[in-house]
Amino acid sequence: MAEDAAKEVENLKVDGEVADVVNPWEVTTSSATGVDYDKLVERFGSSKIDDELIARIEKVTGKPVHHLVRRGIFFSHRDMHTILTLYEQKKPFYLYTGRGPSSTSLHLGHLIPFIFTKWLQETFNVPLVIQLTDDEKFLWKDLSIDEAYRLARENAKDIIALGFDVNKTFIFSDLEYMGQSRAFYRTVCRVQKCVTFNQVKGIFGFGDSDCIGKISFPAIQAAPSFSSSFPEIFNKKADIPCLIPCAIDQDPYFRMTRDVAPRIGGKKPALLHSMFFPALQGAQTKMSASDPNSSIFLTDTNNQIKNKINKYAFSGGGATVEEHKEKGGNCDVDVSYQYLTFFMEDDAKLAEIKKTYTSGELLTGYLKKELIGILQPLVAAHRERRQKITEEEVTQFMTPRKLIYDY
Ligand code: TYM
Repeated sequence: MAEDAAKEVENLKVDGEVADVVNPWEVTTSSATGVDYDKLVERFGSSKIDDELIARIEKVTGKPVHHLVRRGIFFSHRDMHTILTLYEQKKPFYLYTGRGPSSTSLHLGHLIPFIFTKWLQETFNVPLVIQLTDDEKFLWKDLSIDEAYRLARENAKDIIALGFDVNKTFIFSDLEYMGQSRAFYRTVCRVQKCVTFNQVKGIFGFGDSDCIGKISFPAIQAAPSFSSSFPEIFNKKADIPCLIPCAIDQDPYFRMTRDVAPRIGGKKPALLHSMFFPALQGAQTKMSASDPNSSIFLTDTNNQIKNKINKYAFSGGGATVEEHKEKGGNCDVDVSYQYLTFFMEDDAKLAEIKKTYTSGELLTGYLKKELIGILQPLVAAHRERRQKITEEEVTQFMTPRKLIYDY
């Protein structure tokens, strides 16, 4: 993308203030407490996940919502009520999410949508398609086609290691599936025909010097939102609705998709949006694979995890122990505390940590130790599961096929 053009589009002023930048390529804010998500919901025109929706999810599924919803980390949605109604009526829908393989491994931030997607799949028992946009990374990064495809397969290992069921899940690389599936390419073309250059310029900030691959790419990320792209799974049915869990940086793609849907005879995809897992250096940016020091990768060793947290995790504590004890710590900007809200499941313990850190009783060192104690075993267990994933298993997940569901 032409970076300047993107900034021009996104650095818009809302009520006289420079708005946070949130797009698929950049997430930045000048606020130490991170993106203002309430304003984003307003700007993007989505809806907040409120208590009423949470109560309905619990009623319809008969179980408590995932802690990522309870804690407000998944905070915004589009048409989730419609999905719940379908579920109540025993009508089908499916899940779609994805990953742009820009590094050998996923980082902790990427885990958020995938962990939640797994919960959704287990809760609703529906098919899941996972798009690996190796074509996107080839177009945007300094990567060869072969390397982008290699990274896609490597990333598939991380995803499979989270425990997705091969009988219910199709993972595909664009570079591979586009050549295998007439149906997928036809859906892409239908979307391409409905979107003008002017529209993608407005949504994504593309400029005259962007290559045409980038300009037409949004249609490829839109296509899996339509069941017509997967005839093996959906028995050629084109009207099965889709629910997309992702962080809110991906929303521009799906605003475009929802706009196009009725014109190609498809259903508008529903969405569940998460906040961003912050960079180690602070919530002004998201954890991003393009800046290795901002990220903890799922392949990092115990030592790397410890060192990165101790060295980089931004502290909301006082400058000296005395000052900290007197004034207390600030959980709103403390990165270790933020990470605990994503990964510590025990609500009571988290509340106690918040109270005692804010009062100044707990020092930053304790918070970091607590976080290291949670992340090291979590990542180590993941590394171990990932190592056992064979190339055959990856191929199995990535083969177009019928899943266990009948349509
Ligand atoms: P990618 O690889 O940038 O990100 C993969 C998924 O992780 C989310 N994400 C984060 N979530 C929380 N905190 C973070 N710091 C963070 N960084 C990234 C992203 O929102 C995404 O859900 N173009 C996409 C790939 C894609 C896709 C999709 C994603 C294709 N189809 C459908 C979601 C849904 C990409 O490059 O994602």
